[in-house]
Amino acid sequence: MPHPTSQVSGRPDGPALAGPTTTVLDPPPAATRSSRSEHYDSDIQLFDAAKQADPLGLDTFFATQPAVMQVAPQLLLRQLEEAVATAAARRLADPAAGLAALRDLDFLLCAVHVAQPFAYKAVPGLEKLLVALGRWTGHAPRGSNTTYGLCNPLDARMRVFTGLEHERTFVTEIHAGLRGLGSVLTRLGDIAAHGLGSRRSAAAADLLVQDWEPMVRACVAMLRSMPPQVFAGEILPCFVALDIGGTEFRGVTGAQGLNVGIDWLLWGTDRGHVSYRTYAQHGISEQLPVHRDIITTALRHTSQKSLLTLFEQQTQRGRETLDPTTVRAVLDGVAELLRRIGTFRAAHGRLAQTSLPLRSEPVGSGGHTMDLLTYLHEATTAARHRLDGVRAHWGDPS
Ligand code: HEM
Repeated sequence: MPHPTSQVSGRPDGPALAGPTTTVLDPPPAATRSSRSEHYDSDIQLFDAAKQADPLGLDTFFATQPAVMQVAPQLLLRQLEEAVATAAARRLADPAAGLAALRDLDFLLCAVHVAQPFAYKAVPGLEKLLVALGRWTGHAPRGSNTTYGLCNPLDARMRVFTGLEHERTFVTEIHAGLRGLGSVLTRLGDIAAHGLGSRRSAAAADLLVQDWEPMVRACVAMLRSMPPQVFAGEILPCFVALDIGGTEFRGVTGAQGLNVGIDWLLWGTDRGHVSYRTYAQHGISEQLPVHRDIITTALRHTSQKSLLTLFEQQTQRGRETLDPTTVRAVLDGVAELLRRIGTFRAAHGRLAQTSLPLRSEPVGSGGHTMDLLTYLHEATTAARHRLDGVRAHWGDPS
């Protein structure tokens, strides 16, 4: 998948997005991008603004047609045509509006594609609009697990494919789980920048687990409430891959999440496993620019090595100079994060194990099998053991 090129922030007085009569926008110039990056103080603000937004005027459609998958394809195609016209008429000046537009279009696109494969390609201006929205937001030119989970309103305006209460719970849990992951990534970036002996790193490490913890709770909630046959039979078939402008983009999958970048910074960049590297690089290419920038900057600080390697190197060099209490605080915080990522992966593995065999092919919407999930779980455990080795240099690692 191509790397998105524009920033999270938008251009308040930008021209109307591409419709049938306009051309696809280029990304805003670099100066404009950086001067607008104060538009949102955090990714959470951006997501919350996207949740509120109804840029294509589709609130009424979703309120009256909660089970989008059951809507007649002709009506879906008409809605898509109207959405293109609305986008051309309105100035979608804000990245939150862009993410909300991608969110809403994705429900219509997937539903119509399942009913009539590629019929959406006949809607004039639609793919141009999607490509423009993708450039404008720095997101893939369609919906993702970010738009489906984090940018989806949690109240009566929630968009779902099936109209099932189970899917509403799924969206709510995905939202709760993913919401803190931008903070986890930011804190890992702080640790990369300041190193093992810094109080700033210790403060960041102390908060890692609280932001990760909802991921564990989300999986436990799904284990309790989601019948595997409902997920595999009703929800998963909605997360289809789409061809936009000649490139295939995958549908909603957990493999698009910030967890990919979190693994990559913690231990992933050291790993030579080819399938893992392909998975990670694809996932990182699907991050919003704000998150990809954190990863890039962190790796610049670590000379492209993982945080674990950084810790090992700084332990070797800094045994005499670093403050052991601060170092232990950093190592303990990261060790606790790895432990809880492992807990998430154990619970999540149970979800996948019961769901994958019920599918026509045992693969997820991201195209992955149980092997990948097992690999990630084992690599997380190996990283914990490796970190325990570092902790042993600084006192009792128990
Ligand atoms: C019935 C519920 C669920 C099932 C059956 C399920 C299944 C899967 C599968 C098969 C994958 C492999 C990637 C792919 O090809 O799509 C995956 C990845 C992933 N899913 Fe889920 N999932 C469920 C719920 C959740 C929830 C509630 C969360 C978190 C809030 C979550 C987070 C993830 C993450 C982070 C990944 C990437 C792999 C990793 O980091 O371990 N999933 N899921």
